[in-house]
Amino acid sequence: MEKHILLLPGDGIGPEVTKAAKSVLQSVADRFQHTFTFESHDIGGVAIDNHETPLPEDTVEAARKADAIFLGAVGGPKWDQLPGHMRPEKGLLGIRKQLGLFANLRPVKAFQQLLHASPLKHEVVAASDLLIVRELTGGLYFGEPRERRNNGKTVVDTLAYERREIERIVDQAFQSAQVRKKHLTSVDKANVLESSRMWREVVEEKKAQYPDVTVEHMLVDAAAMKLVTNPAYFDVIVTENMFGDILSDEASVLTGSLGMLPSASLNETGVGLYEPVHGSAPDIAGQNKANPLASILSVAMMLKHSFGMEEEAEQVEAAVQEVLNEGYHTADIDLVGGTVVSGSELARRVVDQISTND
Ligand code: NAI
Ligand code: MG
Repeated sequence: MEKHILLLPGDGIGPEVTKAAKSVLQSVADRFQHTFTFESHDIGGVAIDNHETPLPEDTVEAARKADAIFLGAVGGPKWDQLPGHMRPEKGLLGIRKQLGLFANLRPVKAFQQLLHASPLKHEVVAASDLLIVRELTGGLYFGEPRERRNNGKTVVDTLAYERREIERIVDQAFQSAQVRKKHLTSVDKANVLESSRMWREVVEEKKAQYPDVTVEHMLVDAAAMKLVTNPAYFDVIVTENMFGDILSDEASVLTGSLGMLPSASLNETGVGLYEPVHGSAPDIAGQNKANPLASILSVAMMLKHSFGMEEEAEQVEAAVQEVLNEGYHTADIDLVGGTVVSGSELARRVVDQISTND
C-alpha cells in the first residue's frame, strides 16, 4: 500500500520523538513492502517563530491531503508570554477543530515489566488494559457563552452538546468495545447535569444496535476512584471532553510514565491525528532522554485505525514489548534494574525488532 503521512514535529522533545516515529514507520514499510511518503510542516512555537502564527495555512492544507498525521508536541517557556491567540497550544486546538477530530482514543495499558514503576501497588495495576474514548470538540471546553458578567462579579462556562455530537462519540465507543472486551462504561454526572441525562438517553438508545456489548453508567466521581483502586475493572470508558481530560491524566499513573501513553484523534471520515499524550518536556529537550514509546505506540494506532494494517500494528506493539522484556527503558521510568538507554537507542532497538521478528 502507498500512504502519505504528514509529520508535525513541533517543539521541545517533539522533533526527537517524531524522528523515532518516522523510523518505525519506515521499518514497517520495508518489512511489509509498503510505500510511506513523508512531508513535514511547522506547528506551535516553531511555526510562530517561522511564520508568525501557530497554525500556518500550509500546515492545514497539508493535513487535509495526508492519509494520516503524526504530531510530536507543542509549547514551551519561550512562548509563554505571548497573548492567547498566539500561543503554541492554539495550533493544536486549531487543527483538531478544523479537521473535526471529535473522537480522542487513549489506550492505557500497564506493561508487565513496568508494574513497579507505578506509584500504585503493582497488584492493583496488573491486568489493567483500558481505553478512554474522550469527546474532543464539544462539551464544557467549547460551549458558549463563556464570559465574565456583572462587572466581573459573575462568571459563566457552558456545557453544551448537540444530540448528534453525543451519538457519534457513543457509536465510536461501542465500536471500540466490540473489538476489545465488549464492556462499555459510560461516565457522566447524571445526578446533577442535564447534559449527562441526555448522554445517558443516547447510550440507552444506542445499546440495542450493539447487543454483544455490555454497557453500564457510572458517575464520574465514582469512576475516578475506581480507576486507581480497581483499574482492571474497566475495558472502554466513554465520556465528555473535560471528564475525559481529567480521567485520562489520572489513568496515566497506571503506566509508570507519561512517556508511555499514545493517542489517536479521529474524525467522521476516518482521518486521524496521532500523538503522544505528553507535552514538549522542555526540561529534557535536546538531551536525547525523551521516551519514544508513546510516539511509537501512536504509530501502531495509526497503522491500525487509519491504514487498516492490523498485523503491522501488532508487530510494532510486539517489538515494544520485546525491548521492555530485554530490560531497556529511558530514564523517566522509575525502576530498579534494567538498563537505561537514550531515546534514540530505545527507538533503534524497536526498529531492529521489527526488522528481525518472525
Ligand atoms: P510535559 O508532558 O511536557 O512534561 C511533564 C513531565 O513529564 C516533565 O518532567 C517531562 O520531562 C516528562 N516527560 C514528558 N514526556 C516525556 C517523555 N516522552 N520522556 C520522558 N519524560 C517525559 O508537560 P508540561 O511540563 O506540563 O508541559 C510542557 C509544555 O508542553 C507546555 O508548554 C505545555 O503547554 C505543553 N503541552 C503540550 C501538549 C501537546 O502538545 N499535546 C500536551 C501537554 C502539554
Ligand atoms: Mg490533560
